Amino acid sequence: MLDTEVYGPWAVIAGGSEGVGAAFADRLAAAGINLVLIARKPGPLEETADRARKHGVEVRTVAADLLDPGTFDAIRRASDDVEVGLLIFNAGANTYGAEFVEGDLEQFQRVIDLNITSQMLLSQYFGARLKKRGKGGIMLVGSLAGYLGQPGIGVYAASKAFGRIFAEGLWLELKPHGVHVLELVLGVTRTPAMERAGLKLDRPGLNVADPEDVAQEGLDHLADGPVWVAGGNLKTAEANSGMARDQIVENHAEAVKRLLGH
Ligand SMILES: NC(=O)c1ccc[n+]([C@@H]2O[C@H](COP(=O)([O-])OP(=O)(O)OC[C@H]3O[C@@H](n4cnc5c(N)ncnc54)[C@H](OP(=O)(O)O)[C@@H]3O)[C@@H](O)[C@H]2O)c1
Repeated sequence: MLDTEVYGPWAVIAGGSEGVGAAFADRLAAAGINLVLIARKPGPLEETADRARKHGVEVRTVAADLLDPGTFDAIRRASDDVEVGLLIFNAGANTYGAEFVEGDLEQFQRVIDLNITSQMLLSQYFGARLKKRGKGGIMLVGSLAGYLGQPGIGVYAASKAFGRIFAEGLWLELKPHGVHVLELVLGVTRTPAMERAGLKLDRPGLNVADPEDVAQEGLDHLADGPVWVAGGNLKTAEANSGMARDQIVENHAEAVKRLLGH
């Protein structure tokens, strides 16, 4: 049961319109927590907001790109007058895949700007408010991809490795102040973004999670940081962390290519 005294009365979800982000919104609204939802496409954003309002909570939306310079101010305008108990940073699926030496550096930079810079900006802003408040939570949505080098999505994987280590440090810093920090590590999850990217999710043996299940798992384990590997992928995460690093290619490069449909 979600502790609304700790994580309410308001939650901010960066990437709160589709997939796992929408599932967080549904679950939090059902628990009676008001929401500030941020995403680019107004359609799915308003649909998720309307669904949440049916639970009787207040929902504010910010239809903006987290990479645009004015978005931070818009988020502040939408949230400065309310008591925020939870930040979920969910936006961050890979937006650009290419072999590094042939890729476009500006596109790689955008992956870093979203997964690292924007995540840091919101974590600092809301982290400071939560620390002063003396309770609350920050959930950063990470990826199994952040446990080992990946061909074609190397910058994304590295940004997710950053997120996990960043979450561990933040967890150490905020724990004495009553603020729970959790890196929620997802494996392959059936989200609209993945479907649009044309990922081959129906391969036999592939462990594909549903957004509702991993969102619930994350909320259930907010206080069990710094890292929670969702969707039954803990053994994979441990194996990927522990393997001799020169085994990475043999074990995983081909699997990643198959998933990406190459
Ligand atoms: N799906 C998977 O298989 C998988 C696996 C491992 C980890 N993850 C992680 O899980 C999280 C969610 O992934 P996802 O598959 O649902 O895709 P996603 O593209 O990250 O979308 C999630 C939400 O973020 C919003 N969003 C994306 N980019 C944004 C931006 N620049 N500015 C504002 N909002 C933005 C999306 O709405 P708009 O598009 O309308 O902006 C959507 O509401 C990510 O952090 C991803 O790395 C996913």
